Amino acid sequence: MQANVVVVGSLNMDLVARAERLPRPGETLAGESFATVPGGKGANQAVAAARLGAAVAMVGCVGSDAYGVQLREALLTEGIDCQGVTTAPGASSGLAMIVVDANSQNAIIIIAGGNGLLVPASVQAVEPLLQAAAVVIAQLEVPADTVGFTLKRARELGKTVILNPAPATGPLPLDWYAHIDYLIPNESEAQALTGIAVFSLDTARLAAAQLLKLGAPRIMITLGGEGVLYMDAQGSEHFTAPKVKAVDTTAAGDTFVGAFAASLANGKPLREAIGFGQAAAALSVTRAGAQPSIPHVSDVREFTGS
Ligand code: RIB
Repeated sequence: MQANVVVVGSLNMDLVARAERLPRPGETLAGESFATVPGGKGANQAVAAARLGAAVAMVGCVGSDAYGVQLREALLTEGIDCQGVTTAPGASSGLAMIVVDANSQNAIIIIAGGNGLLVPASVQAVEPLLQAAAVVIAQLEVPADTVGFTLKRARELGKTVILNPAPATGPLPLDWYAHIDYLIPNESEAQALTGIAVFSLDTARLAAAQLLKLGAPRIMITLGGEGVLYMDAQGSEHFTAPKVKAVDTTAAGDTFVGAFAASLANGKPLREAIGFGQAAAALSVTRAGAQPSIPHVSDVREFTGS
């Protein structure tokens, strides 16, 4: 089936330790469990879109190691088109070292591996995938010139373009804003993009207004348990989050992005797509791990009673 959502981004193997709390600098802490789980923001968003109703293609790069084989296999199992996932000979695959504490918060260090070798030509090579898509998603775990190329080309082709600026370390290149339809940062990413400290609904509104000024036409700042702040030129709206008992918040943002994209690609109106993304993300935090935590359409239907 022709993909209606194309994700250009990272694939990581997540090495996940659970501990009562995150270790302090210089401290050795006994953990409670360890798991090796497929992740990566790009791959997580691809899996979310696929489980939540879209036909999906992934564009990325893995290393020529065992993790690379497993990461590709995890996507193929979901029915995701992997013709755009290349293998870099001699490189290792992307890795994420994750610690999750008893409050379900996490700390993550990523090692780019193959993700750092995804070049604009890799996206160019699968141009027919972009041409056939309705929605194109990018994040920031692959090189910036590849992200910039993807946004620009997807916009030229008239696609709905979503940028999840994660992880963000500073402002985005200004010329990117003209190519984005939906910019979806979390609080810390909104802060990195604007320099405005985001710690409340009011400060999120300030940061969103700044992003609007910079040229993003629609902004959704994800606020964890506090929901989503949406803003466009007409104004802003706060969408409260469904209440759940969180076990692990890893990939909650990715689940929101993938579910939102799937919903848009299937022609749903904006507010419905946001609500669907929120329900899916809420469910994801009730389960451990990145890709294993992402729900299916039937789970979301049962959760929302729809
Ligand atoms: O957003 C969660 C993801 O961030 C993890 O799966 C990890 O791989 C990092 O990329």
